Amino acid sequence: MKNAEMPIGVFDSGVGGLTVFRAIERKLPNEGLIYLGDTARIPYGTRSASTVQRYAFEDAAFIQGKNVKAIAIACNTASAVASLALARDSSIPVLGVIEPGARRAVELSASGRIGVIGTEATIASRAYENAMFTMRNGLEIISRACPLLVPLAEEGWIDHHVTRQVVEEYLAEIRDAGVDTLVLGCTHYPILRPVIEEVMGDRINFVDSGEAVAEELAALLESQGMLRSASEQRTERFFVTDAAARFKRVAELFLGRPIEPVETVELGAL
Ligand code: DGL
Repeated sequence: MKNAEMPIGVFDSGVGGLTVFRAIERKLPNEGLIYLGDTARIPYGTRSASTVQRYAFEDAAFIQGKNVKAIAIACNTASAVASLALARDSSIPVLGVIEPGARRAVELSASGRIGVIGTEATIASRAYENAMFTMRNGLEIISRACPLLVPLAEEGWIDHHVTRQVVEEYLAEIRDAGVDTLVLGCTHYPILRPVIEEVMGDRINFVDSGEAVAEELAALLESQGMLRSASEQRTERFFVTDAAARFKRVAELFLGRPIEPVETVELGAL
């Protein structure tokens, strides 16, 4: 098979990475996609960096074994702690969401005052801050972990008063600090974007790291002559490490469409 015909691999700790999958699918509609959700070991966001690194290497090895031409790490937590090492060790391009999201935030922010929200592990890693500080001097970055937003999104509580209250509680400080840009630094947050926008107001730039990585991936594949031609129908495959039925249900909520059967892989196969 020619390189350009090979699919793109996407992995995440679970279902949330489908927001990134969706962004890639929209940007690159001809590309085949292979998705792995490590549902047996979610959440990554409350674990130590060394554990998440180990998981990320196992996920990437599985996806690479499916003959993909590039890998997008959808999970912000895995990107924060493992993307540099994965990219260094891999024979194919590996893109995490942090650098593209950070770049877009820095481009969009006029005041240089930027908010970042994510899991506990992503915020503790300071990966977004560190990336942004290398891109521009004089930034003021206000970060906050928002762990409750992950289960709320998976529950489908998108237009719900409880979600509104939780978002208000988490984001009031960042809003009151007068940021002009907010990075949605977790796979699940784009699902809650309407309520996040409602709480933050309409004068803020919102950065969806999934959209940002989809654009960088498209540019990278184009520059390497690796974009797939549209002659045949694109393919997609979904793998999980546990609870395939739940994944399928939440996945259809996240993607807004039915999906192919979900295949379960044994943890030992990773
Ligand atoms: N995928 C994770 C992230 O984007 C959120 C869910 C988890 O904690 O595993 O950080």
